[in-house]
Amino acid sequence: MIQNRAAMEFNWTVGLISFITLFCSILIRRKKAATAGKRQPPAPPGWPVFGNLFNLGSVPHRTVAGLATEYGPVVRLKLGSVNTVSILSAKAATELFKNHDLTFVERTITETSKSHDYDKSSLALAPYGMYWRVLRKICTVEMLVAKRINQSSDVRRQCVDNMLDWIETEANSAKTGKGVHVAKFVFLASFNLLGNLMLSRDLANPDSKLGSEFFTSMLGLMEWGGHPNISDLYPWLKWFDLQGLRSKMDRDVGKAMEIATGWVKERVEKRLKEAEQCSSERRKDFLDVLLDYEGTGKDEPEKMSERDITIFILEIFLAGSETTSSTIDDHKGNATHAPIPFLVPRKARHDTNFMGYHIPKDSQLFVNAWAIGRDPECWENPNSFEPERFLGSTIDYKGQHFELIPFGAGRRMCVGVPLAQRVLHLVLGSLLHEFDWEVESHVQPETLDMSDKMGVVVRKLEALKAIPKKVKY
Ligand code: HEM
Repeated sequence: MIQNRAAMEFNWTVGLISFITLFCSILIRRKKAATAGKRQPPAPPGWPVFGNLFNLGSVPHRTVAGLATEYGPVVRLKLGSVNTVSILSAKAATELFKNHDLTFVERTITETSKSHDYDKSSLALAPYGMYWRVLRKICTVEMLVAKRINQSSDVRRQCVDNMLDWIETEANSAKTGKGVHVAKFVFLASFNLLGNLMLSRDLANPDSKLGSEFFTSMLGLMEWGGHPNISDLYPWLKWFDLQGLRSKMDRDVGKAMEIATGWVKERVEKRLKEAEQCSSERRKDFLDVLLDYEGTGKDEPEKMSERDITIFILEIFLAGSETTSSTIDDHKGNATHAPIPFLVPRKARHDTNFMGYHIPKDSQLFVNAWAIGRDPECWENPNSFEPERFLGSTIDYKGQHFELIPFGAGRRMCVGVPLAQRVLHLVLGSLLHEFDWEVESHVQPETLDMSDKMGVVVRKLEALKAIPKKVKY
């Protein structure tokens, strides 16, 4: 009896495997037939199953940039099972943003970003449609407009002054010849600034227990979200969560949402009281803008839900803090100039012909802004840090000059540019005005380790440490 059952189970298993193999080979043959005769972008040779994963190395933007010499400005890569195309020159970027922006307007959704359905309410990941349009409009017309940014200039100044004080205190308590970790303080200051703009809360206040719990959870989100994940390379393995990234993300997103939801509820109550007392003395912050929103257009949501508002809060911290601090790290370090070297990956909505190459639907697109910013056809001495090259030049970073796109370009370009440019100038200017900077005594400037490390943003592998000497005016 047991033998019969075992034999039956064996037959079933063999049958199932044969069926799956047949099904897969039909799919592969169909796919091959569909692309037969269509010229695909050139690709470096890869391995079965792994594809080009081993070609990437630890600093993929640099290694992929290097492929341009042999394969040209549009390169195809197979990353695990994911078809990926990377564009590597300003000419290809111009073609993309001028003529194919709509085709590549969707985002690749990673496994960790699905945690607590984060991706469903996120502006950066939302499908190109009504919800995305509404959020973008709120940002560009209400939150990040010059008028509201001007209103918060004293908040920015205060956060930057705090940062200068923290740096001075740390420098005074450090041993002679020891530097301070500059980006750490800029990160804290950016986070605190966003807390003030978004929620009118001082999250860097050491007495705020919730503030520090929120900060720790958000650090988790950045860490797990920026980690390469096997589940993204082989989606059928996602159920096993082999690196535990999804469960760590679930834990930290859950905690951050719980805290942020509490803040939203608190504000709703406060606004009710204010309405009863007819008091309106507070500066209107981003949270007020979200709560005030009323959809008027066809298909627009009438109000923003509590859940959408909560995720928007996390999103602003994610999008605005690490990007700002690593940009400062770069400017004080060397010339990377693109803290998100592949921008935020996009996805082809349908099959398309790009610069004579066939690109199938759902291919992932990496726009290598790092390589484009070093395109030898556009830049003289492309690898050297010569900020003076912009003196008298009309080129800027606002998405119209495709050889310089640290904030991306096209419909999905960064919405935070108006705020980022104020903060970056203020922070960098204050750091340079307040202190003279020296490298640590045991470090030779020529041998400073300038290698990069990848996460959500690119950082220096060896964090820049420098000694601040207070300038006496
Ligand atoms: C130095 C600072 C910053 C840098 C370098 C940066 C860079 C970027 C890049 C490269 C993208 C993707 C663009 C594309 O796909 O073409 C992006 C998207 C985005 N950024 Fe920024 N960003 C910065 C600061 C900020 C700030 C301060 C905020 C908000 C307050 C913000 C909010 C966003 C959002 C919401 C998106 C998604 C836009 C969409 O998908 O429609 N960013 N950013």
